[in-house]
Amino acid sequence: MPAPIVVASNRGPIAFVRGADGSVTAKRGAGGLVTALSGALAASGGLWIASAMTDEDRELAGRGRVDVPGDDASAYSLRYLGFDAGLFDRYYNGWTNRVLWFLHHYLWNLPQTPIFGNDTQDAWDAFVAVNRAFAEAMAEEGGRLGPSTAFLVQDYHLSLAPAMLKELRPGARIAHFSHIPFAGPSYLRILPERFRTALLEGLLGADVVGFHTPAWADRFLLSCRLLDGARVNLRRRTVRWHDREVRVRVNPMGLDVRALSEEAARPEVGRAREELRAWKGDRAMLLRVDRAELSKNILRGFIAFDRFLETHAEWRGRVVFLALLNPSREDIPEYAAYVGECVRAAEFVNERWGSASWRPIDARVRDEYAQTLAAYAHYDALLVNPTLDGMNLVAKEGPTLNTRDGALILSETAGAFQELQRWALPVNPFDVDQTAAEIAEALDMPAEERAARRRGLRGAVRRNPPSRWLASQLSDLGLG
Ligand code: ADP
Ligand code: F6P
Repeated sequence: MPAPIVVASNRGPIAFVRGADGSVTAKRGAGGLVTALSGALAASGGLWIASAMTDEDRELAGRGRVDVPGDDASAYSLRYLGFDAGLFDRYYNGWTNRVLWFLHHYLWNLPQTPIFGNDTQDAWDAFVAVNRAFAEAMAEEGGRLGPSTAFLVQDYHLSLAPAMLKELRPGARIAHFSHIPFAGPSYLRILPERFRTALLEGLLGADVVGFHTPAWADRFLLSCRLLDGARVNLRRRTVRWHDREVRVRVNPMGLDVRALSEEAARPEVGRAREELRAWKGDRAMLLRVDRAELSKNILRGFIAFDRFLETHAEWRGRVVFLALLNPSREDIPEYAAYVGECVRAAEFVNERWGSASWRPIDARVRDEYAQTLAAYAHYDALLVNPTLDGMNLVAKEGPTLNTRDGALILSETAGAFQELQRWALPVNPFDVDQTAAEIAEALDMPAEERAARRRGLRGAVRRNPPSRWLASQLSDLGLG
């Protein structure tokens, strides 16, 4: 009998939304965590506990589980936890995305931010309350499913839940996995001591703490040295904490190639592919696909494209840069300001270089998944230049669906770089001149080299299916 699996994450695989005609439909959740975990759990089955993100989810939260159908008997079920709107706002916008996301992605502008004041404690209290609700729900489900249940707690939103669950069920087998980077000790010290200690202690409630890359795992281990009483072994990647040994593991998350290909075969994606083909005409296409997110480095991407057009006059009029930016975390002022700046930068480039018949950058800030999958087919170069990224699944999806042997320009600081670097064109995300040079290199690359690199990228993606990630998590917990 396989071990029962309980996954917990803030965002669930689908959110329910009510349309203009009053009918309720399921909408895919945004972000890499959802893409990756949906793939892993569709094959294994299990229960996924997530926050209710919409009014319709909140209605369902009162009614227990919802089945998420798959193509075989092992589809999984979903349980939403509903929170008071004010509490959820303080937890999600106030703490997890304004403090923890900025912390782990090094996004603060230190002369000005962060400022920890009165509202920090309120946001923290909400974070504690939501983590406690998740821990209690997991403990309850574990009571029903039995002692061999694997609890797979996901991401920074639930950093406290492992210790809370361990307290409720001391025998529980708990893995925590971060889909984002982890701040090193110097940056972590920006957080007041009471918060950073609680965060580290929360994570050390797990038996296994997982990351996508060795760099994030090692930063976590070094940060644990800030904790009184923690004994860190960097070589073995363990932390002796109270009377337990916590193992820190590197387990890069892969892509469900089959599920992605099935999505891309849907009729609306086919229609979008035709529209994009007509829109781009004979021009080459540079593509970027991101949540409209500060760490994705969209602004420097546009500045680099400007440099590229300045230094490569032969490409003027012959290339279009399509930027598909899925709106994200719109209640956070820094996000709104950043997206505005990106759009203005794109307009600047268009005014500087464009003509009546050529608009160099088309920046589309809207939620259009079908168009994203369609665009992957047509690019000649894909620009993935985050300043820091836990993994970045776009870098894996693009080469999987591309039909033009397009090149991948990839930040050295994206988690995906460790698996894909041999076949990608590497960039330092802060160096716009280098990025401009790599755009030229990508577009001018000889056909055989493009084909060889694309084969390499596809192979690397296929070698790491999400089922491997799941199997490693279970075996690390002694349940494999
Ligand atoms: P992050 O987790 O930071 O958002 P990733 O690159 O790892 O970054 O993952 C982004 C995921 O979101 C990809 O799987 C991508 O296909 C998906 N995606 C892109 N646009 C949309 C959209 N409009 N709706 C839902 N998912 C989207
Ligand atoms: O993949 C990292 C991540 O932060 C996930 O935890 C999250 O679901 C995703 O990005 C998208 O962010 P959000 O859930 O805030 O829209």
